[in-house]
Amino acid sequence: MTFSTDALAGRVAIITGGGSGIGFGIAKAFVAAGAKLVLASRNADRLAGAVAELQAMGGEAIAVQADVRDYESVERVVKTAVETFGGLDIMIANAAGNFVVPAAEMSPNAWKTVIDIDLNGTFYCARAAYPALKESKFGGRFIAISTTRALEGWPGCAHAGAAKAGIMSLIRTLTGEWGKDGIRCNTIAPGAIGDTEGVKRIYEDAGRKANELSSIPLGEFGKTTDIANAAVFLCSDAGAYVAGADIVVDGGRNRGRASPIVTVPGK
Ligand code: NAP
Ligand code: COA
Repeated sequence: MTFSTDALAGRVAIITGGGSGIGFGIAKAFVAAGAKLVLASRNADRLAGAVAELQAMGGEAIAVQADVRDYESVERVVKTAVETFGGLDIMIANAAGNFVVPAAEMSPNAWKTVIDIDLNGTFYCARAAYPALKESKFGGRFIAISTTRALEGWPGCAHAGAAKAGIMSLIRTLTGEWGKDGIRCNTIAPGAIGDTEGVKRIYEDAGRKANELSSIPLGEFGKTTDIANAAVFLCSDAGAYVAGADIVVDGGRNRGRASPIVTVPGK
């Protein structure tokens, strides 16, 4: 299923971490819906490959090398978007780092590194984008990619769980403060999305793939297009009245947490 080719026509979007995984999935859907894109992350080669692919689709996209832990580099991304495309309508704070390590073995710097990328980086994206987003004639959009794990506690990923919980609180605060400026702030909370670095690190490499699959009522990992479709909806006119929400796209996993899935005899 795809949206119409003008669902995001005229909009300019920044996607951090847009060169891989879920971010690149969003980038492809945004280009197909008519948006102009700036992809930002650390690895310039990967960004260049992603931009080439988007341009081959007929899209307008550029790359800016940036580390979201560095506020000045995030400001530079926003400035480049405004100078290149004449404004900014959408900021997708997707960049993140995560790895499995028990809290008792986690070094202080491991904790700090993930908090810096995920939580501080998301605030930096919001803060740097605000002046341009409030000028958007479509109504600005700020979307952070979160996870419902943030609300459950996340054994093995204390740093990312705490960071994502902070992000969910931040989005609620920004919704209250920036609604008057027409800026819609929301999170998208993906479940386990196949063929991504996140699933490789958290489930496959950790030997938890089968366990994770068994907890998903729909019985399979999601696709990056599932997350991209939610992002296109939120950023299009169709999503104009959605603010302060967590859009959960997880095959039903979240509802299954408190009550383990029951196998029905005979099925
Ligand atoms: P991914 O492909 O590794 O995406 C992470 C991206 O962030 C990469 O493109 C990386 O690019 C960028 N990045 C990392 N550190 C950065 C930094 N300091 N500054 C700028 N960019 C940085 O993994 P993914 O699985 O698609 O994850 C994307 C998002 O979805 C994350 O927010 C993740 O927490 C969330 N999520 C994923 C899943 C899942 O099942 N995969 C589930 C729930 C939530 P560079 O290396 O070029 O910097
Ligand atoms: N287990 C335990 N500690 C780890 C670790 C692991 N698998 N990976 C990194 N660390 C620790 C390091 O040892 C270091 O701590 P120390 O100084 O006390 O030794 C700290 O984390 C920072 O590591 P470093 O490699 O210097 O960080 P970086 O800034 O180069 O990279 C990461 C950031 C670690 C998050 C890296 O994995 C990354 O770039 N990830 C992006 C992709 C990703 O995570 N995708 C999934 C998204 S869900």
